[in-house]
Order: sequence, then structure tokens, then C-alpha cells
Amino acid sequence: MSLYSQVLRPLLFQTTDPEKLHRTVITGCSILGKFPVVYPALDAYFTVTDSRLRQNLWGLIFPAPLGLAAGFDKNADGVNIWSHLGFGFAEIGSVTRHGQPGNPPPRLFRLPEDEAVINRMGFNNDGADVVAQKLVHQQSAIPLGINLGKSKITPLEEAPEDYCYSFEKLYSFGDYFVVNVSSPNTPGLRELQNVTRLEEIFKALQAVNSAQKPLLVKIAPDLADADIDAVVDLAQSYGLAGVIATNTTIGREGLKNIRAKAEAGGLSGAPVRQRSTEVIRKIYRRTEGKLLIIGVGGIFHPQDAWEKMAAGASLLQTYTGWIYEGPHLPYLIHRGLLNLMEQQGLKHLSEIVGRDV
Ligand SMILES: Cc1cc2nc3c(=O)[nH]c(=O)nc-3n(C[C@H](O)[C@H](O)[C@H](O)COP(=O)(O)O)c2cc1C
Repeated sequence: MSLYSQVLRPLLFQTTDPEKLHRTVITGCSILGKFPVVYPALDAYFTVTDSRLRQNLWGLIFPAPLGLAAGFDKNADGVNIWSHLGFGFAEIGSVTRHGQPGNPPPRLFRLPEDEAVINRMGFNNDGADVVAQKLVHQQSAIPLGINLGKSKITPLEEAPEDYCYSFEKLYSFGDYFVVNVSSPNTPGLRELQNVTRLEEIFKALQAVNSAQKPLLVKIAPDLADADIDAVVDLAQSYGLAGVIATNTTIGREGLKNIRAKAEAGGLSGAPVRQRSTEVIRKIYRRTEGKLLIIGVGGIFHPQDAWEKMAAGASLLQTYTGWIYEGPHLPYLIHRGLLNLMEQQGLKHLSEIVGRDV
């Protein structure tokens, strides 16, 4: 039990509205990012530098496996700072072609008894043009992913053009890109996981992917097994670089918080942990380890990280765990993974990947 989870978290959770707190943290990170003088102190506190954690994937160096998941830094406000808070990579977005306000508040709910969050933000973001402007002035010391969503006003048939606009606008700033077709909060979006629709999007994006930057697809934990296979097969046939598994779930099984059960939106955190690991395992088996997997969903402890890697994930991301466990989470996960590796006699992180499959 840390000071954060015993004292600070209960205080923050009781006294602040979740969205207000999120805005405050983003503003703080954006300000910190403007003062390189603080970077060494942050590094000393939050980062773990160890060659056993370092991976070269798609020609990019990931100094550590745990990254910041999409949705926290939707507008690229903290790009300078994420490496100094211990993350091995960061993913901004989802960014849509058109700036949009998202759904009306309240739209973000904490479920402490379930170690979970429900959100129905609805891709609130400044839009690709504004985000591109912000990226001009920032520099990420770690690989930067850009997660692309579909604008609410764009009909499903025009989704390929909508994704392409953002992709081209942001192309020079991202090290990898993600097609997000799995958020539950944009009406119809998840229908784009249907292979016919998805194929049009992959085809359009790969046609303008001049430098062959890694393109990934992010999927929902609610997909049936046959649909996961279909998406993964399609991803392989269009030369995608990987899959992110998974987004939030529309399921509500086993929740203790009965009141929150009725809130619409995507559920994240501990309740999605097991299903997301199952999806990772399924993808790894299907592709025989040939498609890189970023595992996300309910990572709170080193054991959770280990399980996702052992199921086949080469990289990991966190959102809800970071809120619940506090800013030290990347440090604790990376240290914990090193300890587990030592216990198992492993010399490098990559030896964990797929070992349980
Ligand atoms: C408030 C909130 C907003 C999110 N927004 C996005 C988003 O814009 N795009 C996206 O791909 N995923 C988004 N996610 C999903 C996360 O990236 C992640 O896939 C999911 O929450 C499961 O991981 P976790 O249990 O560590 O939170 C969001 C999650 C939360 C909690």
C-alpha cells in the first residue's frame, strides 16, 4: 500500500470531479513539459533504465514496455513529459478529422469498489489540424503513437477519407499510427470492425502511407472469437504492423457498483483485464507471433503485465491502472517485471513474450 493509494487517492477521489481532475493533471503535465530543467529530477524518480527492458521494434527503440494508453492525452498536451514519468512510449488521441466537443457531461465515472472507470467521452478533441500545430512545438524522447478516430459527423461510408485526412495531417509527427474502430461512444463506430468496412480503411491508409510507418488496429474486447480472427487476418493481409488489444468493454458482468452499471459507455480497469489477456492470447496463436501485439486492459501490478506479455504482447499500455495506482505505476511495473525475470532466470524481456501460449 503506497502513500498514494492510502491517502492521496481517497482524498482526490472524494473531493474532485473525475474530468476536472483529469484536466488539472493534463494542464500540469503540459506546464512541466515546458521546463526541461525538471526532467532529470523526474527521470530519477519515475524511470527505470535497464537494457533488459529495451526493445527494437519496427526499427524504433522502446526503452521500456509500458506506454500511456490513448485517451489520456487526446490533444497532445503532454508529449514532452511522458518519457520523464517513466513511460516507454506514449499514444496521443483519439484524434478525429473535425474537432468535436464529445458527449455532454457527466461522462466519466469512477467505480472504486471495482477498480474501474466508465467513460462515454465520445472523442472530445481539438481535431487533426489543431493537434498537428501543437506537435510542431513538442519533442517526444520516446516513440509517439497517434491514435485516429472517426469524426461523429462523418457517415460510416466516408470513414476512409476521414481517417486519411487525419493520417496525412499528422503523418510527420507520429512514429506509429492506430486505427481506432473500437470505442463504444461514437454511434456506429464499432461497425467499422466489420471486415468489409475495415478493408476500405486499411486500403486507403496504406495507399498514402508513403514511408511505411507502422499502422495498427485497436479492437474491442467484446468481439466474438470469429470476428477477432477475421480482423487479424485482414490486418496481416494489408501489411499492418500490429494490433492493440483491447479497448474498453460494453459488458458489465460482475460489477459491485450497481448504480454505475446503468451508465452507458466503455468500462475499463480490473473488469476488462482477463478478457483483454484472452484476446491477446488468441491473436498470438492465430498469427503464430508474427503480428506485434500491444496489450492493454486492467494493468495495475507487475503480475498483470507479465500475464499479458506471456500471452503474447510485446508492448503494454495503461490508463485506468495509472489513475488507481498513481504516477509511480510505470516505475513499479518495470521494476516488478525485472524482479519476475530474475526469478525465472530470463535475460531479456522478449523472452516472456508468448511463453504461456
Ligand atoms: C476516460 C477514457 C478515455 C479513453 N479514450 C480513448 C480514446 O480516445 N481512444 C482509444 O483508443 N482508447 C481510449 N480509451 C481506452 C484506453 O486506451 C484503454 O484501451 C482501455 O481503457 C483499457 O485499458 P485500462 O484498463 O488500462 O484503462 C479511453 C479510456 C478511458 C478510461
